[in-house]
Amino acid sequence: MINVDLSKAKLTESMESYKDRVAEVHDMIHNKTGAGNDFLGWVDLPTNYNKTEVENIKKKAAELSEEIDVLLVCGIGGSYLGARAAIEAINGLYPTNKVQIIYIGNTFSATYLAQVKNYVKDKEFGINVISKSGTTTETSVAFRIFKELLEETKGKEVAQRRIVATTDAHKGALKTLSDQEGYTEFVVPDDIGGRYSVLTAVGLFPIAMAGIDVDAMLKGAKDAQDKYNNPDLLTNDAYQYGVARQMLLKAGYPAEMFVTYNLQLQQTAEWWKQLFGESEGKEGKGILPTSGTFSTDLHSLGQFIQEGSKVLFETVLKIKEPQMNLEIPSDADNLDGLNYLAGKTVDYVNQKACEGTIDAHVNVGNVPNIQITLDHVDAYSFGYMVYFFEKACAMSVYLLGVNPFNQPGVEVYKKNMFKLLGKPGY
Ligand code: PA5
Repeated sequence: MINVDLSKAKLTESMESYKDRVAEVHDMIHNKTGAGNDFLGWVDLPTNYNKTEVENIKKKAAELSEEIDVLLVCGIGGSYLGARAAIEAINGLYPTNKVQIIYIGNTFSATYLAQVKNYVKDKEFGINVISKSGTTTETSVAFRIFKELLEETKGKEVAQRRIVATTDAHKGALKTLSDQEGYTEFVVPDDIGGRYSVLTAVGLFPIAMAGIDVDAMLKGAKDAQDKYNNPDLLTNDAYQYGVARQMLLKAGYPAEMFVTYNLQLQQTAEWWKQLFGESEGKEGKGILPTSGTFSTDLHSLGQFIQEGSKVLFETVLKIKEPQMNLEIPSDADNLDGLNYLAGKTVDYVNQKACEGTIDAHVNVGNVPNIQITLDHVDAYSFGYMVYFFEKACAMSVYLLGVNPFNQPGVEVYKKNMFKLLGKPGY
């Protein structure tokens, strides 16, 4: 399902030398003895998830899909990135599903919110508001605006039916509001942080609304859980990726570029960036996670990667079998000179672009390259891939010696903003 190829990673240390340390960290993760151990619920989630809630998610999604044409997913960071990554990876950027998914609650851009308001005001829309804390300002502001719009255009009773709140089981402003309004509620488990929450109701409800098979996604994650529940570094690909990153950091590469050759995986890169960036970047340590979508970014960032300062290594997410393919036609006049490609598929060209680029970056540009190949993209493999990266991330960040599950630095901008906005208590 997933293959990790480190042959072009230019590693100077042996995997063998990390074997014992990795086995120790594996025990820390599974016995919950490390820093942040309150947030390890994702490790066994594919086995232990709340089956009744998943049935309720599917039922509500089926009912609501009959009634609305647009779902506003209102959340920020871990409360929307995973769902968006899954939906765009699996359904593409221009899906023909009945329910269109639009993302709000992740910005204070007045123009964006006003544009979404104009777009949905005469449509049949619903809202899934998602916030574990229930107090995130970007999400609360957008929810207040669109809740009011829904109540004004459709009435309180319809709004109550069309609003779904995903939040803490017991506390927070959103929980209080939702209880009072009588919305359908789904729970963010106490022991799972935002960036590890895509396989909980946080991701699963929007994903189900997009018509994607959530059972298949959980099955993929379960198979990955079984596969990567293996302390042996030499046979655990997820751990090898986690270790290779730390070796490259030590070797003088403080930035990692996650590369995809598929536009519909751009949001997967955004999800990956949050997972690794927020988990690792603390105490003055960590690898800067960045991303590139090739070949388009080869025409912007390609020059820097090839010949610029040697600060980064690449991690390429390759897809063996594309979801769809098309053939390049022959042309009698051949004025564009492309007949040498006639009869070949576009994916064949994409694979050759990938091969040629890796060769150029590694052998001429001296840029280390990790290749992660996913057989194909569907609900099952997306779930599998999510678990792979979660496990790799926890291993990698514990090896670096920081807590992968907190994000104290994120509070600093909030405090300043609250002070400037005159929020009581700041
Ligand atoms: O990974 C995280 O914990 C964060 O990115 C959160 O998901 C994000 O800040 C949103 O928080 P909340 O769900 O409390 O609104």
